Amino acid sequence: MAQDSNVRTVALFGATGNLGSYILHGLLEASYSVTVILRPESKFEITPATINGFPPARIKTVKIPFDDEDKLVGTLTGLDAVVVSISKGGIGAQRALIDAAIKAGVKRFIPSEFGADTLNDGLMKNVPVLREKLVILDYLKAKSQENPNFTWTGISSAAFLDWGIESGFFGFNISERTAVIYSSGTKVFNATTRETIGRAVALVLQSPKTENRYIYIADVRTTQNEILSHLQIQTGVAWKTTSKDANAHRLEGETLLKGGNFPSAAPKLLLGNLYGDGHGTLVDNELLENAAIGLQTKELSNVVASVLGKKTL
Ligand SMILES: NC(=O)c1ccc[n+]([C@@H]2O[C@H](COP(=O)([O-])OP(=O)(O)OC[C@H]3O[C@@H](n4cnc5c(N)ncnc54)[C@H](OP(=O)(O)O)[C@@H]3O)[C@@H](O)[C@H]2O)c1
Repeated sequence: MAQDSNVRTVALFGATGNLGSYILHGLLEASYSVTVILRPESKFEITPATINGFPPARIKTVKIPFDDEDKLVGTLTGLDAVVVSISKGGIGAQRALIDAAIKAGVKRFIPSEFGADTLNDGLMKNVPVLREKLVILDYLKAKSQENPNFTWTGISSAAFLDWGIESGFFGFNISERTAVIYSSGTKVFNATTRETIGRAVALVLQSPKTENRYIYIADVRTTQNEILSHLQIQTGVAWKTTSKDANAHRLEGETLLKGGNFPSAAPKLLLGNLYGDGHGTLVDNELLENAAIGLQTKELSNVVASVLGKKTL
C-alpha cells in the first residue's frame, strides 16, 4: 500500500475522448487539479464548455509525445495519480506511461480499462482485440510489486450504457425508432453511464482499499429487450424490430479480424460477445463495489430519458 494515499493532483491521458471528457468532468467535480496530457497531434483546446464552469486554474494541458520519457517524467513529477482513457488502438502505449509514472513518483495509476472484465479468459478468447489490456494489467501488477509506493486500480464498468443506446452500438436507431434485436434480446449484462464512470474514477482515487485491485462497478443489470421496452414507453410508439443471431455477428467480426480489418472487427466482436454466448459482461451483484466506494448509480429509465432528450425525435 502507498505510504500516502491522499490524491489531489491527477494527470489525465485521453481527456479528448468519448469517455475521457466525462472522467475530466468527474475529477473537476470532485475538486482535483487535473493536468491533461495530449499527443502533439491532438486538436484539444480548453474552452468554457470543456471546463464547464470549473475554476480554470484547476486544469492545464500539456502536449507530449508518449515516447518522450524525459518530458513525461518531468510533467508527472509532483502529481499524485495518472488516469488513462485512451482508445483501444493506443492501449500498448500505456507501458511507457507506467514507466514514466514510476520514475516520477506517482502513487496511483488507473489504466484504460472501463469495459468488460479483462480478467475473464472467455472474454479474451471471444474478443482478442482486448488482449493488450490484460498485458497492461500484468505489467502494472509486476511493477507495483517492484515499487511498493506505486499502486494501480483497474475499473471494469461493462458496457457504456448511455453511449450504447445513443450511438446505435446497442442496436437501436432512435431517429427511425427501429431496433435490431440480437438473439431474442434476453441476454443479461451490466452497463454503466460514462458520467458514473467519471465519478467512480474520482472516488477510487480516494479509496486506499482499491489499491492494487481490479474492481467492478455498474449502474444497471439489464437486457436489450428491457432497454427497448423503456424506449417504446418513453417515445409512446411500438418500434419496428428485426432480428440477428449474436453469435453469427461475433463470427463476422472474427473473419474481419483475420483479414486485418481491426476497426470493423472490434464492434462486431464486442457486441456479439455482449448479446450472445459471451463472457465478462456480467458479474454477481456482490462483486460490484458501487457501495464500497460510495458511488451513486443511475436508473435505466432516467438514462433512457436523458438519451432521448438529447435526440430530435
Ligand atoms: N465499455 C464500453 O462500452 C466501451 C466503449 C468504448 C470504449 N471503451 C473503453 O474506454 C476507454 C476509452 O475509450 P474511448 O472510446 O473513450 O476512446 P477514444 O474516444 O476513441 O479515444 C480517446 C483518446 O485516445 C487518444 N488516442 C487515440 N488513439 C491513440 C493512440 N494510438 N495512442 C495514444 N492515444 C491515442 C486520443 O487522445 P489525443 O489525440 O487527444 O491525445 C483520443 O481522444 C478504452 O479503454 C476503451 O476500450 C469502453
